[in-house]
Amino acid sequence: MNALTPLTADQSYLRHFWHPVATVKELEAADPAGNGPIGRTLLDEPLVIAKLDGKYVAMRDRCAHRYAKLSVGKVLENNRIQCPYHGWEYGASGRCELMPACPSDAIPKKAFTPAYACEERYGIIWVRLDSSWDCTNIPYCEAWENPEFKRQIIAEPYNWDSSAERRWENFTDFSHFAYVHPGTLYDPAYSEPAIVPVDRVDGELRFFMEPGRDMLDTLPDDSPLGSWNYRNSMPFSVNLSIRLYKNDKPFLLWTTSSPISQNSCRNFMIIAHTEDDLPDSQPLDFQKLVLAEDQPVIETQPGPIYLDEVSLPTDKISNQYRKWLRELSTAAAKGEEAFKAALFTDVTESK
Ligand code: FES
Ligand code: CO
Repeated sequence: MNALTPLTADQSYLRHFWHPVATVKELEAADPAGNGPIGRTLLDEPLVIAKLDGKYVAMRDRCAHRYAKLSVGKVLENNRIQCPYHGWEYGASGRCELMPACPSDAIPKKAFTPAYACEERYGIIWVRLDSSWDCTNIPYCEAWENPEFKRQIIAEPYNWDSSAERRWENFTDFSHFAYVHPGTLYDPAYSEPAIVPVDRVDGELRFFMEPGRDMLDTLPDDSPLGSWNYRNSMPFSVNLSIRLYKNDKPFLLWTTSSPISQNSCRNFMIIAHTEDDLPDSQPLDFQKLVLAEDQPVIETQPGPIYLDEVSLPTDKISNQYRKWLRELSTAAAKGEEAFKAALFTDVTESK
C-alpha cells in the first residue's frame, strides 16, 4: 500500500485549545475530601488533576525526583500534592515546596513539574496545554443559557479507541444515520442527506438541518427528531440544539471529544431538556444505544484522517471541518497572528 498523507502532519496546534479532562464528579469521587488527585492523558501528555485551595490545577504527572506519578499520591491538608514515592510536596504552581528527606536544604530550581491553565465550567474540568497566545475560549454550551431548559445532565465520560477528529465527524455525519442508526435515529428510506450551508462564526462551525418529519411515524419516542441547529466550537465540540418535532420544545445534545492521543479519545456529554419528571436514565439510555451502534464502526477507522479518503458532496460537513483543521494547523506553525486569523475570521454561506 502506498504511504497515506495525513490531513494534519503537525498536531501541536491542538495544544492552544481548551480540552475537557474530567468531570468535577470524577475528581470528587477520587478521595474522601473531594480534591483528587486523578490522572488523565491529554495529547499524549500524562496529567495530574487536583483541587488545591479551592482551585482546580493540572500539572505534568511526573515528580521531578525519580519520575513517579503524582496522580497516585495524595492531596494534603496544606493544599499540596504529595508524591507517593519519597513524599516531595508540590504547590499549585508546580514547584516542589518540601523534600522531606532533606527538609532544610535549598530546593533545586529544577524541582518542579509544569503546571497548565485549568478551569472548571459546565461541571467539567478543562485544560489548555499552551496558553502562550491565550486566544482560545472554553467551547460554547447552551445548556445553562436557555431558560427553557429545566434539567441539565452531565453524563459520565466514555473512552473510544478513535481519534477526537473521527469522533467529531461521526457525531455530525448525516449520511451514516440511515446505515448505522436505522430505527433509532433515522429511517433508512431517507438515505440521501441534504447539502446545507456551512458557516464559520466566532470559531464555531455552524449549520442547520431539518430531517424529514415523516420519520416521526417510525422512530421511537426518545429519538430527538426535530430541526437540528449546530454551533460547534472548534476543534472537537458539538452543540446540537434541537427543536423537537413531537412537541416543539428545545432539547440539547452537547458533546466534546478530548484527544488522549491520535488513536484514543475521552468523550463528554451534556443533555438538557424541558421536562419535569423525566428520569435522567431515559435520555442517557437512548444515547447509550446510539453510541453502541456507532462505536464498533468508528473504532475500525484509523485515528488520523487521510487526504487520500474519497469524499462526496454530501460529506460537506466533514469536508469543511477538515479544511478548517488543516488551516488551523498550518496557521499555528506560522505564529499567533496567523492562528487567530484562521480561527476567528468569519466565513458565511447562509443568509
Ligand atoms: Fe517523587 Fe521521589 S519520585 S519524591
Ligand atoms: Co452515529
